[in-house]
This record gives sequence, C-alpha cells and structure tokens, in this order.
Amino acid sequence: MKLVIGNQKAYQLKSDVLDFIENTKSDYCKNTIICPNSIYLTTYLEKSNYIIGSQNVSFLDSLNTTGEVNAKQLKDLGVSYTIVGHSERRINQKEDSEMLVNKIKMLSQNNINTIFCVGESREEKNNGTTKDYVGKEILEVFDCLTKDEIEKIIIAYEPIWAISTGNLPSATPTNEEISDVVCYIKDFVKDKYEVELKVLYGGSVNQKNIDTLNEIDIVDGYLIGGASVKKEEFSYIMERCAN
Ligand code: PGA
Repeated sequence: MKLVIGNQKAYQLKSDVLDFIENTKSDYCKNTIICPNSIYLTTYLEKSNYIIGSQNVSFLDSLNTTGEVNAKQLKDLGVSYTIVGHSERRINQKEDSEMLVNKIKMLSQNNINTIFCVGESREEKNNGTTKDYVGKEILEVFDCLTKDEIEKIIIAYEPIWAISTGNLPSATPTNEEISDVVCYIKDFVKDKYEVELKVLYGGSVNQKNIDTLNEIDIVDGYLIGGASVKKEEFSYIMERCAN
C-alpha cells in the first residue's frame, strides 16, 4: 500500500469540490490525504471521509497576521497534515528554511504532521548536485528541530523540474533516479537524526505512470498535484496504490 496525497493547489471552484467529493471513491480514504485550497478545507472536512491536510500554515506566532491561517486554527478545524517547503512557495513566497522551521514547530505543538517537500532544480540536476542540494534542504531545517518534531514529518521528494509537466514521459525522473535519491534521503535522516521517515515522490504523477512508479518499493507514496483534481484519474491512482 502506498500513501496518496493530493495537493489540489488553486485548481478548483466550489462546484468542482462538490463534484470531486461526490464522485471519487471513498473506499480508498484510508491511504489518501487531500490537501485542498484553504477556502475549501471546511467543505472537505464536513462533506467527505478523506483525511484532510492543508497546503500552508502561518510561520508567525503572532495573531496580528492578516490573511494567514495558524496551526492552532488548523487543528481546531480537524486538519491532520500540512505541506511545508513546497518549491512553489519557496520560490513565489520566498519562504526560507527559518520560516519552515517555525511552521514545523507550531504544527508539531498542535499535533499536525508535516509533509516536508525537498527537490532540486534542473540546474542542480544537470550539475550532478541533486543529493548535496536535497541534503542541505533537510539539514537546514532538521538541525533546528527536536527528535520528537522530526518524527512527525513525512518527506516528499519533488524535483522542481518534474512538477506540472503534464504527461510528458521525458519530463519525469526514471525509477532508478527516484530510487537513488529516496534511498539517499532515508539513509541521511536515519544516520544523522536516528529517525526512520516515510519518503514520497512527487512531480507529474499521473494515471499513465503510476504502475511504473509503483515498482519502486522504497517509495512510500506520492504527492500529486494536477492529477489530484481529476476525479476519474485520481480514483484510478488511489485504487492502484491501495494494495
Ligand atoms: P504535479 O504537482 O503532480 O502537478 O506535478 C505536484 C506538486 O506540486 O506537489
């Protein structure tokens, strides 16, 4: 069985959310976490059986934070997971490791698990520095956390160059490449922090490549963007990951 996490980004309108809830198979809710846009968290929590995660949390401790949602509010709502360190936020919102540490600490205090994203750009891949880059992303954050905080983390390895490429087969890593980096991440975390964490793969996971990806035993599941709002495609993926 593989864990399936849907990162629905800003793809949906309210009618899409209701249609998705109505028409995806609730049989696979146990190994699936849906991370809807924050304005639809309540809709999913009230109307679906899915385990619910948020796509973001405030990095600030203060309550004077216009437009932000904090960890205590997420906990109060019933959110169990939060995505932290997604490359889109690292790039667009300029989130750095210090902000990510704050987020993870506040999530941990509220018993919310972190889905921590790491991954190299095309440039690092071409330079052959993927492992150095990913190792640094982990080190900068994990060195500031306690063992107890690290234990509540799932890592998602998402090469930036493989995100949102659609169905182009050449735009995703090979199974060997994924396996190599995921192995490195698991060993790195185990050696340095004495914790064994789940590591997921993310980046253009879809109906066409899921069976090939499922051949990688060491990968514990997937973080899925675009395909997570396509109800037939996502239902197929959930089913293929349930066994
Ligand atoms: P994608 O997105 O599946 O559309 O590539 C993955 C992600 O950004 O988490």
